[in-house]
Amino acid sequence: MPVSNFKYKSEYIDGKKYLIICPSSEIYEGKGKKFHFGDEFEMQIAVFRYKGKLIALENICPHRHIDKIYDGIIKDGYVICPEHGWTYSLSTGENKYQKQGRKGLKKFEVFEKNGLVYIEEPKFELPKWKISPMSENL
Ligand code: FES
Repeated sequence: MPVSNFKYKSEYIDGKKYLIICPSSEIYEGKGKKFHFGDEFEMQIAVFRYKGKLIALENICPHRHIDKIYDGIIKDGYVICPEHGWTYSLSTGENKYQKQGRKGLKKFEVFEKNGLVYIEEPKFELPKWKISPMSENL
């Protein structure tokens, strides 16, 4: 696995590790911003501000594995993927329309402190199709 060259300062709060990803002023109301946490495509998160609160969701849409959730349209508590319209709850990450697909977006803990945005250290899993069968025997 490639070594990450994405460095964020970290801080432990009540024994849990958080990463400080940007100043609060960089997350605008009704907009999303994407953050990378490593070299793998999957290691990215979309952070939104909706009704003043921050929300952090996986940035890869499970429909066609495109990294555009951050650029989605925010409406009535949902984010709509700009590619084909799959619609996810901002509060849970669930797909609004189960006929579109059952897969939702993973949600991450995010908050602001002293004018900075903190996110729980994300744990990413590679999709099964990306794991080489050869690597299991090493
Ligand atoms: S890639 Fe998001 S709806 Fe198709």
